[in-house]
Amino acid sequence: MKYIGDRHYWDEKFENKSDKPLSPEKSIIENMEYFKKGTVLDIACGDGRNTFFLLEKGFKVTGIDFSYKALKRLEKFAKLINCTVNTQQIDLCEKNALKDIGTFDNIVINHYRINKEQLKEIENIITDDGILFICGFGHKHKVDAKIRKEDLIQPTDFNVLDKSLELIKYEENEDERGFFVTYIFQKMKKL
Ligand SMILES: C[S@@+](CC[C@H](N)C(=O)[O-])C[C@H]1O[C@@H](n2cnc3c(N)ncnc32)[C@H](O)[C@@H]1O
Repeated sequence: MKYIGDRHYWDEKFENKSDKPLSPEKSIIENMEYFKKGTVLDIACGDGRNTFFLLEKGFKVTGIDFSYKALKRLEKFAKLINCTVNTQQIDLCEKNALKDIGTFDNIVINHYRINKEQLKEIENIITDDGILFICGFGHKHKVDAKIRKEDLIQPTDFNVLDKSLELIKYEENEDERGFFVTYIFQKMKKL
């Protein structure tokens, strides 16, 4: 099984999920104060547990994922609460996957390890003072058959970022699910 990059696994998982999205990520709820008012791109959004939370907080949210089943669930849930959400089916493993996506005030990547090439692309699609929020299994998480070493967020992942993104918060958390890290970057205005 591949935690990242196995569309068949994720389609099947979303197909068989209960008729309700999960609760939003605790770290997003706790760090809302850092978000810039406006738009959000929820990368690898799944069926939208965080997308809904952000919609309810007044953000205009676009959710992208490669799982068609996940996006269909997200659209169905959004309809039920009379919310509009933009969705795009995008495989992040493809080159230039985010080329035509536009710009956003905030980017959320929750429980997906973005690769270095994509991180470089992301840097260019955040508005000035905008936020890059990343949370997921971190470098000290115990690997198993489901979560492999290559799925874990490493501190060195961010070495590729240039100085326009400043780390404004870093947090480590541990609970029954494992070891998590949260990185919050802010895009600095070019002088
Ligand atoms: C652990 S889930 C996280 C979902 C959501 N961000 C959340 O916090 O609930 C990982 C998500 O990554 C998506 N994913 C995995 N590989 C992907 C890829 N190559 N391109 C786009 N989405 C991908 C899966 O479909 C799944 O929705």
